[in-house]
Amino acid sequence: MNPIDYLRISLIDRCNFQCVYCMPEGADLSYVLREFWLSHEEILTLLKGVFIPLGFTKFRLTGGEPLLRPGIVQLVDDIAHLPETTDLALTTNAFKLEKLAQPLYDAGLRRINISLDSLQPETFEAIVGKPAGANKDTSSNHVRWQQVWNGIQMAHQVGFDPLKLNVVVIPGVNDHEILDLAALTVDKNWHVRFIEFMPIGNDELFADKGWVDSETIRQQISNRWGLEESRIRGNGPADIFKIPGAKGTLGFISQMSECFCDRCNRMRLSADGWLRPCLLNEVGQLNLREALRGGDSIHSIRDRVGALVADKPDINFKMRESGTTGAYSRTMSQIGG
Ligand code: GTP
Ligand code: 5AD
Ligand code: SF4
Repeated sequence: MNPIDYLRISLIDRCNFQCVYCMPEGADLSYVLREFWLSHEEILTLLKGVFIPLGFTKFRLTGGEPLLRPGIVQLVDDIAHLPETTDLALTTNAFKLEKLAQPLYDAGLRRINISLDSLQPETFEAIVGKPAGANKDTSSNHVRWQQVWNGIQMAHQVGFDPLKLNVVVIPGVNDHEILDLAALTVDKNWHVRFIEFMPIGNDELFADKGWVDSETIRQQISNRWGLEESRIRGNGPADIFKIPGAKGTLGFISQMSECFCDRCNRMRLSADGWLRPCLLNEVGQLNLREALRGGDSIHSIRDRVGALVADKPDINFKMRESGTTGAYSRTMSQIGG
């Protein structure tokens, strides 16, 4: 089994978007009360007293939308400057990135992954859901897409490298844009990653539309430009390819057509302090918020987390066959992506 040294820390389960594959309209979005969020101090206590001593050195901040979390820049600064941190990254929808890119970079962040499912404002709008309280006129569509695009441009200018763009491909919704999105890597050193749609968050849409497998996407791209497999392998789930001569790369995250559990290197901490060993499985999860607030010693928390890390399930959850995550109820925004 891979060493488990990467912790994804969700800072908030709320989001300013409501992507169809994540928080569909009408979904039960009973947000965690703020008082249940792990505080900055609690997060740092857990990193210093539990995760770092257990060998974790790579951290990613997620949500919901992590840029909605008050004090995000200070938290980035604190985690980036822990001497043991070797990698700190953030996953965002970029809506608030235009203003925050520079302060985050100055605080020590170098890696950002951004969700960008479409280059067409109208398709984008259909994916990211309705803006709270707003009407759906075309100008507001352009404003939201443009705002995200500005955030991406700003992150590029500021110097984030690598800049990764995540595309969840949904048949009949955005699969007509595969080549346009792949083309972004030709002139820019961006990493565009195509993600197979999973039945987490919106089983109904999944049942209705299905998903596009990475091999089909690779075939389309290869027919247009050719495609070479890269020798660089990230530490994440993506298989990396390249359009010949392109500056950037293409990644394929194929959790439906392939099982990458055997190379999994990560655990996940939710905004309300649940530590889960697997995205798709709640078995063994620990409530670290209750442990901390109940006065458990940091040593005993470390022992329990250490036992969970050692016993991390190496399973291939059966969602691929069943097309549903079944009894398992949290959305990506609640788990932390
Ligand atoms: P890098 O460290 O940059 O490679 O990041 P990443 O790809 O792990 O992070 P990101 O937040 O961009 O995640 C992209 C998508 O990959 C997620 O939304 C999931 O769809 C998928 N993914 C990430 N980790 C896992 C995992 O442990 N299991 C499964 N099944 N999918 C995952
Ligand atoms: N299937 C695949 N990816 C998903 N994401 C959210 N929900 C799903 C899903 N059902 C991805 C988003 C974002 C990342 C954090 O999670 O694209 O980039
Ligand atoms: Fe928000 Fe990301 Fe979920 Fe979209 S996928 S609703 S941006 S948390």
